[in-house]
Amino acid sequence: MIKFLVTGASGFIGQNLVKSLVGKCHSVKALVRKNYHYNFGKDVEVVFGDLNDKDSLERAVKGVDIIVHAAAVINSTKKENFEKVNVGGTRNIIDAAKKEHVKKFIFISTGDVVLNPGGLYGWSKLRGEKILKNSGLVYVILRPYTVYGTDNDHSICDLVKLIRLSYIIPIIGNGKALLQPVYVGDLIRVILKVANPRIKNVIYNIGGPSPISYNDLVDLIAKELNVKRVKLRIPLSLLRICTEVYGRVANTTWSSDRIINLTKDKTTDITKMAKELQIKPQSIEEGIKNCIRLHSIK
Ligand SMILES: NC(=O)c1ccc[n+]([C@@H]2O[C@H](COP(=O)([O-])OP(=O)(O)OC[C@H]3O[C@@H](n4cnc5c(N)ncnc54)[C@H](OP(=O)(O)O)[C@@H]3O)[C@@H](O)[C@H]2O)c1
Repeated sequence: MIKFLVTGASGFIGQNLVKSLVGKCHSVKALVRKNYHYNFGKDVEVVFGDLNDKDSLERAVKGVDIIVHAAAVINSTKKENFEKVNVGGTRNIIDAAKKEHVKKFIFISTGDVVLNPGGLYGWSKLRGEKILKNSGLVYVILRPYTVYGTDNDHSICDLVKLIRLSYIIPIIGNGKALLQPVYVGDLIRVILKVANPRIKNVIYNIGGPSPISYNDLVDLIAKELNVKRVKLRIPLSLLRICTEVYGRVANTTWSSDRIINLTKDKTTDITKMAKELQIKPQSIEEGIKNCIRLHSIK
């Protein structure tokens, strides 16, 4: 039995991962922050900690074989949070892992390290990757773009909810930018595979089987929900002006680099993932059906 520590266990990917690991009879420690109230069940050891509290991390890693590091700041109104958590916090958990001689460190990075390495999020995750690669720990780095599949996914299930509720669906830009979303269950299958001791010091791009444009995604969801919707184009130039003004007033990270991200294709070559890990990710059609059926999105 492998003993896992999952950071970010209160988040979308972390919660799903913890449940799956327990289901596969692994021993699991779930790192959460103090204010978190979620019952993982009796088979999960909940450990309270923060990536910026080194003592809490040293306690959390005790006796652990594999760390899956999923905690991160993805959106923040404060620019310094990316550096503090995604860089400093990642360094702290890596240092704790080294002290405890953890056997493997699996880092959930992001495709943004390739797509937008100059953006705050992509830059901070790339720094995290570099710290890990230079740490001497055995590592696996996973780079998904959009992960979806349960009610709290902040992406496609949210879009399903919107399309169910609203007659008018906003489309930013021309809606032609491509996405390659991966179902959370497929990401978890990847994590279980890369836990194998033979897989070391490697990076995998993670994605669904094929790309889809935002326009087509909206149409597909509307079809699955059996509803008719009207798409309302929001010109990028308008969004750019609004976010520049808002960014200055509120000191947010919703600045030009986030807008650039919205217009770029988020596609990735998953050949290595498919071949080496024997993972055939499920189609977006199946994934959306699952979102609607299994998670009874309201
Ligand atoms: N979801 C996606 O589409 C996607 C795509 C590519 C990569 N990723 C990567 O996958 C990972 C998980 O993403 P997610 O969607 O599950 O994000 P999420 O739902 O926002 O969860 C983020 C987690 O990080 C924790 N966290 C943040 N700051 C922390 C700190 N200082 N100390 C300890 N924990 C902290 C949060 O804890 P609280 O609940 O206490 O805030 C939460 O559990 C991230 O590393 C992200 O970069 C996600």
